[in-house]
Amino acid sequence: MIKVENLTKYYGYNKAVSNLSFEVEKGEILGFLGPNGAGKTTTMKMLTCFMPPSSGRASIFGFDIQKDSMEVRRRIGYLPEKTPLYHDLKVKEYLELVARLKGVANTSIRSSIERSVESCGLEQVAGKIIGTLSKGYQQRVGIAQAVINDPELLILDEPTLGLDPRQIIDIRHLINNLGRERTVILSSHILPEVSQVCHRVIIINKGILVAVDSPENLRERLKKSSIIRVKVRASGDPGRISEIISSLEGVLMTKIQHADEETVSLIVESVPVKEMRDTIASVLVKNNIGLLEIYGEELSLEDIFIKLVTKEPA
Ligand SMILES: Nc1ncnc2c1ncn2[C@@H]1O[C@H](COP(=O)(O)OP(=O)(O)OP(=O)(O)O)[C@@H](O)[C@H]1O
Ligand SMILES: [Mg+2]
Repeated sequence: MIKVENLTKYYGYNKAVSNLSFEVEKGEILGFLGPNGAGKTTTMKMLTCFMPPSSGRASIFGFDIQKDSMEVRRRIGYLPEKTPLYHDLKVKEYLELVARLKGVANTSIRSSIERSVESCGLEQVAGKIIGTLSKGYQQRVGIAQAVINDPELLILDEPTLGLDPRQIIDIRHLINNLGRERTVILSSHILPEVSQVCHRVIIINKGILVAVDSPENLRERLKKSSIIRVKVRASGDPGRISEIISSLEGVLMTKIQHADEETVSLIVESVPVKEMRDTIASVLVKNNIGLLEIYGEELSLEDIFIKLVTKEPA
């Protein structure tokens, strides 16, 4: 339904989004996860036809974001990063204005406003001035304007940013409900957040796609072990060396990769959160085993993951 191919955006010489390719199925809630400056907003601006890509292409419902941008715009709802609210208008007045701007037919304006108000839980505040509402309710108004044209695709840029924990839970429920009938793409820099709302998560960092997976699989990958390679001087039974390392806390598995008369090479798998190299080195020294080499394998994906796992507010 949504197909993104090699989407790239330069701001001057700065490559904000680099060769991004992914697909989104109808009905999916897709999370865009990445730290500040990852390129989330830039990608969303391109998909919503706010800004053309420097290269690459994307189609939404079969319409090209550049060639058929009016067709795309008609079918999507967008909550930008900075919610475009008119603080002096009443909620209903504002929604009417947006409905007219989005070309909702005159005869449907009333029902569209009612539907948006209801689906976003705004019944109590529909007659109030937007500027007097809490941040959480203002965010609901922002989402209500995005769904006013009953779009098939909803693109929400950091919909819970700046909200208190209670409001965050409310907005998550709202997104889940809206996602029942529509496809949703939302961005966040909090992994637990996208895990709770999204079916699938795309992780981007510095404009580059790092991983695409379900939240469950991502969690599994996060838990996965680190690999350390160890080479020692042979001293009697290689199995004994393996046993000594295996007995350390945090070591999951030790495997002898190569053993000859002079050296023994082992692969050690350990829990990723713990730096094991110094512990392994000291236990070997303590047992009079000559350490020749020890190094951790590059785990850039995990490094990025760990950086990305921003703690959720309590
Ligand atoms: N209008 C612009 N002009 C120049 N550079 C920009 C512009 N907008 C964004 N950038 C740069 O592009 C990169 C990606 O920014 P973008 O806003 O897409 O990231 P983001 O993932 O949405 O970050 P955040 O979590 O802070 O919202 C950053 O390096 C940013 O400084
Ligand atoms: Mg952003």
